Amino acid sequence: MCGIIGYIGQREAAPLLIEGLRRLEYRGYDSAGICVISDAGKFGIVREVGKIARLSEKLIKHPVKGTSGVGHTRWSTHGAPNHDNAHPHTDCTGGIVLVHNGIIENYLELKAQLLAKGHRFQSDTDTEVVAHLFEEQLFKVKKAQSSDAAILAVARAVLSKVKGSYALVVSANVWDGKIIGLRKECPLVAGKTQDEVFLASDIPALLPFTKEVVFIEDGEAVILKPGAHAPLYKLTGQAVRRDAVTVPWDNLMAAKGGHKHFMHKEIYDGPASFEDTLRGRIYDENIDALLRELGLNRSKVKGLGSINILGCGTAYYAGLVGEYIFEHFAGLRTHVEIASEFRYRERITGPGTLALAISQSGETADTLAAMKLLKARSGVTTAGIINQIGSTMTRTTGGTLYTRCGPEIGVASTKAFVAQLATLYLSAFAFGRVRGVLSAVEYKSLCDGLVHLSSSMRMALQRFEPLAKDLAARFQNAKGFLYLGRHVMYPVALEGALKLKEISYIHAEGYASGEMKHGPIALIDEQMPVFAFVPKSSSVYAKTASNLEEARARGAKIIAVASEGDKGIYKVADHVFESPKSMTEWFDPVIGVIAAQLFAYHVANLKGLDVDQPRNLAKSVTVE
Ligand code: M6R
Repeated sequence: MCGIIGYIGQREAAPLLIEGLRRLEYRGYDSAGICVISDAGKFGIVREVGKIARLSEKLIKHPVKGTSGVGHTRWSTHGAPNHDNAHPHTDCTGGIVLVHNGIIENYLELKAQLLAKGHRFQSDTDTEVVAHLFEEQLFKVKKAQSSDAAILAVARAVLSKVKGSYALVVSANVWDGKIIGLRKECPLVAGKTQDEVFLASDIPALLPFTKEVVFIEDGEAVILKPGAHAPLYKLTGQAVRRDAVTVPWDNLMAAKGGHKHFMHKEIYDGPASFEDTLRGRIYDENIDALLRELGLNRSKVKGLGSINILGCGTAYYAGLVGEYIFEHFAGLRTHVEIASEFRYRERITGPGTLALAISQSGETADTLAAMKLLKARSGVTTAGIINQIGSTMTRTTGGTLYTRCGPEIGVASTKAFVAQLATLYLSAFAFGRVRGVLSAVEYKSLCDGLVHLSSSMRMALQRFEPLAKDLAARFQNAKGFLYLGRHVMYPVALEGALKLKEISYIHAEGYASGEMKHGPIALIDEQMPVFAFVPKSSSVYAKTASNLEEARARGAKIIAVASEGDKGIYKVADHVFESPKSMTEWFDPVIGVIAAQLFAYHVANLKGLDVDQPRNLAKSVTVE
């Protein structure tokens, strides 16, 4: 995810901006840039593809002098990772400079309007339209004003045209050296010392300079000014008073957002990853853009005969959820396979096959090899659901629908799984709409449901955390665990078992609960707890509940991930995670997996294990 830093003070800005950006490297990026504002108000922009070290080298050859400026690390979403797409961006006059984190959803429409008015664009980014919108707005006034009220009025007018999310940091050469920070749905934090003011997308960027920070809220603006002033306003112009808080973090803690482990932070990043992945790709007006990302179009989707999903580990389990939803919502025969198995057997693919790779890293050797095999077959179109921008897989597949969760550092995949589910829902619903399986009304209502899911995820995190901790203490010495689920919750049972195994080293098996009596029930006794997913909305609720009774009758302790208000579940379960009600059973995996992730995390943490780097595992499995 992109990183931002802004500075006004008395020291040379360039080294400070670079240091701030270095502290944001953990977020992942593919290019970086800074703009230093000279004492005469001139903008000196230097950008570079790749690592910050390369930008620093470039700055040695092309130094930029001044005591204020902005900096940015870019994680590409719109446009390739190249020099022109790197931030900061400017307008046609070069009088405006800005950096952005987030997504401008209506940028194509805005760009068309701006081009028609004669604006010239330098990049393929969504961000650049905002620079030109500022230019438009500044030209509208006879003489550009630099009072806070005038700057806010310009920002208000610009943002009224923009749909999407942003942390924006903007300066104009007619603003007497002021820099404005604006926030909607993307983090922005201001910092202050006696004679300097800062802005950043994240606390780590500020820690080398100050621990006194003010969090900017949605719909607010902060104006950095020479003389160490940083007044805070509502975008409407009303002043806001908020005291600075002292951050008690060291640098590593800051990178973890105050969480003890990256895995815990990343579980909590899940709702934002889910939202980011939906942004600008949902509802009728975005179907074509979504298909384009996948390298498809409406007629290709209509002509599809089947889907082959390939992945490993967690990505494979996300694919299994995809199998249920593509068949149901898009009416397409879907087959999911572990990539390492697919490679070594004959699988018949007919014309009109979509081969869909799922991978967080985009580097998993087996998935890559399987995709190469499929790509070589006639009649097969390839696409990827991938997180890592520019990874090998993105260059192998015909199109890539990126999951937008930023770097996942914990070896156990968590936020990537929920973002993968988001892309699968988006694609299955869009395919269903294009193929006439879903009516406009059905499609819209499913999209509404997806949009509301992130708030249920946040609620689930709050509710589940204390119980997960308590249960971890009770069950940390269990000899093994059986994870059960049916229908779309079956893959979640597999994923839950994988999470527990890989970080707590407790053996766990994931099973379709209907299969229990065909073998695994022999394992059950007082020492073998059962972790079951039994949402009330499920079409097989009663069947799963009766499977649990069978396990309980044999002495197993039952932990159930059930639905709020389901009193009946207490008759068969000893401990219950009460999930927020979901609109449809199809969305239950997104909530259910949170309970499993938190439980596994707390068991491993209590056992004092290396949660983020479990033994024998690597984050990216680039060997067969
Ligand atoms: O990078 P990928 O998504 O292709 O990785 C696939 C698996 O290696 C990965 O999901 C692995 O199973 C994780 N450790 C699961 O938490």
